[in-house]
Amino acid sequence: MNNVMRVGIAGLGTVGASVIRLLRRQSEALRARTGRQIEVVAVSARDRKLDRRIDLEGLEWFDDPVRMAETAEIDLFVELMGGDEGAARKSVEAALLRGKGVVTANKALLAKHGMALAALAESSKAPLAFEASVAGGIPIVKTLREGLAGNRIERVYGILNGTCNYILSRMEEEGLSFEECLKEAQRLGYAEADPTFDIGGFDTAHKLSILTSLAFGTQVDAQAIHIEGIQSITLADLESAEELGYRIKLLGVAQRTPSGIEQRVHPTMVPLSSSIAQVMGVTNAVTVDADAVKELTLVGPGAGGDATASAVVADIADVAKGIRSAPFGLPVASLAKPGHPEMREHQGGYYVRLSVEDRPGAAAAIATRLAERKISLESIMQKAPGASRHGGKPGEPVPVVLITYATTEASIREALDAAMGDGYIAAKPQVIRIERE
Ligand code: NAP
Ligand code: HSE
Repeated sequence: MNNVMRVGIAGLGTVGASVIRLLRRQSEALRARTGRQIEVVAVSARDRKLDRRIDLEGLEWFDDPVRMAETAEIDLFVELMGGDEGAARKSVEAALLRGKGVVTANKALLAKHGMALAALAESSKAPLAFEASVAGGIPIVKTLREGLAGNRIERVYGILNGTCNYILSRMEEEGLSFEECLKEAQRLGYAEADPTFDIGGFDTAHKLSILTSLAFGTQVDAQAIHIEGIQSITLADLESAEELGYRIKLLGVAQRTPSGIEQRVHPTMVPLSSSIAQVMGVTNAVTVDADAVKELTLVGPGAGGDATASAVVADIADVAKGIRSAPFGLPVASLAKPGHPEMREHQGGYYVRLSVEDRPGAAAAIATRLAERKISLESIMQKAPGASRHGGKPGEPVPVVLITYATTEASIREALDAAMGDGYIAAKPQVIRIERE
């Protein structure tokens, strides 16, 4: 192995610029830890004139990242541009085809093309590493792939999107609007170029698809994920959740069921007493339930330049040391299909917020519809008109909030459809699943 590893970095935005700074700051330590000099020799971005507050003097500039991936001047290609097609896909393929290692933080690319890229890496005998693609600075990829190799995993779940957790935390703590909090998250460099990926739950789903593959030895299958974002969450929901002893988090959950691996992303009620409820701001948390280790939770910064650079540089150091793991823990041909359980089969408790006409018989009618499907209530809260900090005038429908014991998704949906038909419910019910530790 040559004593110098020459690195080309495509993408000089929030993450790319932080990676260059970190490699420079830790240059001596990295040499001691890997036995090699890691040198950034080439970079690529769209706008050559942009001041990125990093010294690019002496580095070869490529307008086209594919050309950089192909050049014999680099040993390792680091993809930090984003996007599941175009430049990101073409350049990663070009590097792997030439037997060059690839490090990427691009979960969208891996969620869509992870299997094909892993197969290409396998046939080229080139490393493909992506620690930064899930949960920013938390080393969850390595933990699942190497650290928990002796376990049978039953469930992996967590807060996988820093932007959403930041928004929900700020709304709850400061009473700020959704839009204000999103703007802050964008300014801080947490959000994706298109923030719909964050708030719509798609980014969490991309990450969950990678975790599912690593945890259960299955093919990456992002299409199988049930996805709901946080756009519908209101201050009234956050307020009611707290009053009932819960907090709302956007969770990604993958768990074994008799019909396969259930994969879902949605706003979730977690008990206020749970450790995941304490995770606020841009922080992420991933919990693994497994036979030997029982329960393991990793908590850390989920987004932002420095935290993500920490994970990218860890991968670069592994490549420098000559470490080449099967990207998803097993040879691609050995990865099983994860199955596709229907959401209707999902079992758990539910939070339901109803806007109910304030007249006799309303509560009894709703209770009857729930009882018909054998749905039992843990708690019920009806507020007087105008009692909520967030609206309601006398004469208007009143908010009624229910927490159910475990039931099925099919039962709760059928009960609510029937209750809607009774004419007491004034608006589409807000339904949020409950997840317990
Ligand atoms: P960003 O700030 O938008 O930076 C993207 C960079 O890619 C920019 O420098 C841009 O060039 C360059 N780029 C885009 N298209 C290009 C093309 N066709 N050719 C050459 N360069 C191109 O994005 P980021 O936040 O650093 O994220 C980068 C990747 O890391 C994404 O995959 C993202 O999902 C992932 N990630 C981000 C975070 C985070 O906290 N931000 C955390 C984990 C993972 P210009 O600067 O010239 O426009
Ligand atoms: N936009 C992502 C987030 C970046 O907010 O979590 C980290 O993957």
